[in-house]
Amino acid sequence: MTHDLTYDDFFDIVDNLYDEIWVYDNNYKIVYVNKAVKRHYGLNPDDIIGKTFFEMLKFWDPSVLPSIYKSKKIHAIRQYSNIGVELFNIATPIFDKDGEIKFVAMSVRDKLYDNILIQNNYDENPFDYSDIICVSDVMKRCLKIAEKLSDIDSICLITGESGTGKTMLAKYIHDHSPRKDKPFVSINCSAIPSELLESELFGYKRGAFTGANVNGKLGLLETASGGTVLLDEIGEIPYTIQAKLLHVIQDKTFFPIGSTKPIKVDIKIIAATNRDIQKLCMTGLFREDLYYRLKVFEIYIPPLRERQEDIEPLIFFFLNKYSQKYNLSHEISQKTIEILKLNTWRGNIRELSNVIERMVVITENFKIEPSDLPSDMFSYQYNGNSEDIGSITSFDDAVEKYESKIILKAYEKHKTSRKVAAALSISQTRATKLLKKYLNK
Ligand SMILES: Nc1ncnc2c1ncn2[C@@H]1O[C@H](COP(=O)(O)OP(=O)(O)OP(=O)(O)O)[C@@H](O)[C@H]1O
Ligand SMILES: [Mg+2]
Repeated sequence: MTHDLTYDDFFDIVDNLYDEIWVYDNNYKIVYVNKAVKRHYGLNPDDIIGKTFFEMLKFWDPSVLPSIYKSKKIHAIRQYSNIGVELFNIATPIFDKDGEIKFVAMSVRDKLYDNILIQNNYDENPFDYSDIICVSDVMKRCLKIAEKLSDIDSICLITGESGTGKTMLAKYIHDHSPRKDKPFVSINCSAIPSELLESELFGYKRGAFTGANVNGKLGLLETASGGTVLLDEIGEIPYTIQAKLLHVIQDKTFFPIGSTKPIKVDIKIIAATNRDIQKLCMTGLFREDLYYRLKVFEIYIPPLRERQEDIEPLIFFFLNKYSQKYNLSHEISQKTIEILKLNTWRGNIRELSNVIERMVVITENFKIEPSDLPSDMFSYQYNGNSEDIGSITSFDDAVEKYESKIILKAYEKHKTSRKVAAALSISQTRATKLLKKYLNK
């Protein structure tokens, strides 16, 4: 059967190709991208088309376009996108009748396809995890401070709710420090019984106490020599050990249990906690002098719900990660993304990662839809409200938040105040007033 392709058909086909298609004009302007950009950068075509190469530079590394304009030759390159996808980009110059470049067309294939093709065994860590997904300004500021702190040896403290990325940021500091080729030792202070913690951290001399190993034991601080020690959940360290720790921080020396010979260590200490240490000080559970020392270089990672811009790129990052891990290929619908964006994420990025992993494995269809969401999130949308009642502290604030969601969603869809007014059955004056209020927030 023959079928004449119309222009629209052709457009449809290119738009839905698995490979990413990207077209520049002859002067760095993006004239076309297809829908695969969502999978590769977490962006919609409309966010990209019309922009210049220079505005988009942060989304991949390295670049190939300037060399095509210069050499006028086809060129292939391996790249990494902002959300950690490994890409293989073939850029082709397209010429006009005078032999001048008219367009540069790129066909960009991702690593996932390679893996399907050759049925590789999966590497548990296909991405470079020191690449933290970071789109929001607050998170960018955190990373900037972290980079500064990686250059100096002072102790620093990372705070934030559970699952916000404290351990990951500590590793990032280590990986960007001159100590990066030395050990990174992480100790979860809440997981080790307090009577054992002292010997774990500082070690002991042979015969230091009954039941001790006859040869003595090297403490974790010494094991990490030259590297970095992460004291996770530092709020759980018993008061008596805190004094010894302060000594290590100030003098870089300590005494193993039962020893009178001080040991000098060259380590960078990073502490992390999701508890309010100031409160622990007030109840006498944490030494104030240690707290003030830790506080000098504190980095607070805000919860995911306060940096909504990071959610969508993270969704695509985890979608790629788990698709590769389980050798499954999925797309996710815009509606599902919107619901995920509205969730409160009490478990922060860890919870988001778990939700995406579950959906990648469980979903039967190619496209992940709202009905594939965990039942509590799925039912939120049909109740028309994504607020957790327990989290509401002010009725007026909650109503305002919900009002803003409705108005902004309607504006996203309808684009003008007149159409928003019609869609929500309110007067145009009221729609304009509400838009003014929430668009500028
Ligand atoms: N910005 C990010 N980009 C990509 N992955 C992230 C990001 N932040 C956190 N993660 C991932 O989310 C998970 C939770 O992060 P992490 O363990 O660092 O949180 P945490 O704050 O230390 O949690 P806890 O308080 O429970 O110790 C990890 O798998 C981590 O790799
Ligand atoms: Mg942690």
